[in-house]
Amino acid sequence: MNPFFISTPIYYVNGKPSIGHAYTTIAADVLARYQRRVGRDVFFLTGTDENSQKNVEAAEAAGRGNDIDGYISDMAAVWKQTWDDLHISYDRFIRTTEPDHLAAVEAFWHRVQASGDIYKGAYEGLYCKGCEAFVTEAELANGLCPIHKTAPETIKESNYFFKLTRYKDALLAHIKSHPEFVSPAARRNEVTSYIEKFMTDVSISRSTMNWGIPVPGDESQRIYVWFDALINYISGIGFGTDEAAFARRWNQDATMINLVGKDIIKFHCAIWPAMLLSAGLPLPTRVFAHGFFTVDGDKMSKSLGNVIDPLEIAHEWGEDVLRYYLLRDIRFGEDGDFSHERLAQRYASDLANDLGNLTHRVLTMADKYGAPPLKRAPSDATATYHAAMESLALHEALEEIWRMVREANQRIEQEKPWEMAKAGKQDGLTALLEGLLRDLGVIAYMLEPFMPETSSALTQKLSTGKKGDPLFPRRDL
Ligand code: MSP
Repeated sequence: MNPFFISTPIYYVNGKPSIGHAYTTIAADVLARYQRRVGRDVFFLTGTDENSQKNVEAAEAAGRGNDIDGYISDMAAVWKQTWDDLHISYDRFIRTTEPDHLAAVEAFWHRVQASGDIYKGAYEGLYCKGCEAFVTEAELANGLCPIHKTAPETIKESNYFFKLTRYKDALLAHIKSHPEFVSPAARRNEVTSYIEKFMTDVSISRSTMNWGIPVPGDESQRIYVWFDALINYISGIGFGTDEAAFARRWNQDATMINLVGKDIIKFHCAIWPAMLLSAGLPLPTRVFAHGFFTVDGDKMSKSLGNVIDPLEIAHEWGEDVLRYYLLRDIRFGEDGDFSHERLAQRYASDLANDLGNLTHRVLTMADKYGAPPLKRAPSDATATYHAAMESLALHEALEEIWRMVREANQRIEQEKPWEMAKAGKQDGLTALLEGLLRDLGVIAYMLEPFMPETSSALTQKLSTGKKGDPLFPRRDL
């Protein structure tokens, strides 16, 4: 089967991971685990975006202005540890200060230069530090950046530009002929209208910066952080250092998915593909932008003090519960809300009650009425589930699993195995319980990408026939 590549954005290290960052990373992990299970050669890339001025400012604010490298390394370690604690199955955690990334950025710069797409010019305009992006008046709301609610600064300097506008027609044509390239479909208009109406050539270097990757051949300039950061998607798999490995993972026949939040779609659906076209490299199969969520109805922000640490939720409820809640309660691709109350409800109803009880009942009855444990773990899932996973409709895949859970519970209510036992209908009873055990096996299989620990605990119970501890102990809420 052809290789499958999936990435998250690389995150700034000016703060610790929030539940928002965990959301993207968990979703990517679910997709990576699913594709591995179906036998694809998967590469899952995540990491940290380290050459940003934001990181430098955070180091200074933390009193480590004289040890920026050390601060950034410490923070990168915090991010990595968070993903390890959440059982994220990444294949590589890339840091954009690593030597192979630097080599790749240089090689990439040379390719774009060889295509005639880099020129020197004078930039005068607005820059939003929060976005690390040049912005136009038209993109502002009342003079402020609509995302960061801050006034951009005016910048006037001489630097290098990328001929982005040269790729306008090619980008529009690609988006039209590859409907899956910008997904979900709702985001396509946003991207095409940006390309048609707002897109200009972009400055790809800064002369006033002393942090970041130097421009090859001109040490007085540093490469613009987004230009450097986007290249991580290919430097992380060998571009510029291991061409054979790179060609194997990044080619027309492979599936390459860049998973991002909707806030950074412009970079990923316009600038990034134009960079690849300029460098003569294939485009990702798909850039999927998921929605943003609020917390209990409010925008998550440091100033509101409502930023949720994913590890706190994981410690309180378990990693699997966090994973389940995020992907079940928010339709993947749409905006949503993280609510502590709904998390507790989902735990009690979907997990403890529906799945936990089903498991407990079936194993109790199998033991009591003599049905043998499951010899082989099933590896067949429903077509609806596979279709949902392939189309990144993660909430639909979970809905399909819970449809089976509910159906199994209903079957028990309807067939009343305890009455079958009383009436001595042993054959029917054994067949019913074997069917239920098997269904639970399929449920465990389908659940694995979403809730790896629960899936393995369930499989273990089914194969030994031992109830053991409940999957989801009841909690006083
Ligand atoms: N460093 C850039 C990305 C470079 S990729 C080549 C960046 N980093 S970031 O640390 O600001 O992370 C932004 C991403 O975090 C979003 O695109 C999204 O994936 C995730 N999210 C952060 N807060 C979120 C929510 N409240 N809701 C959903 N996702 C959120 O941008």
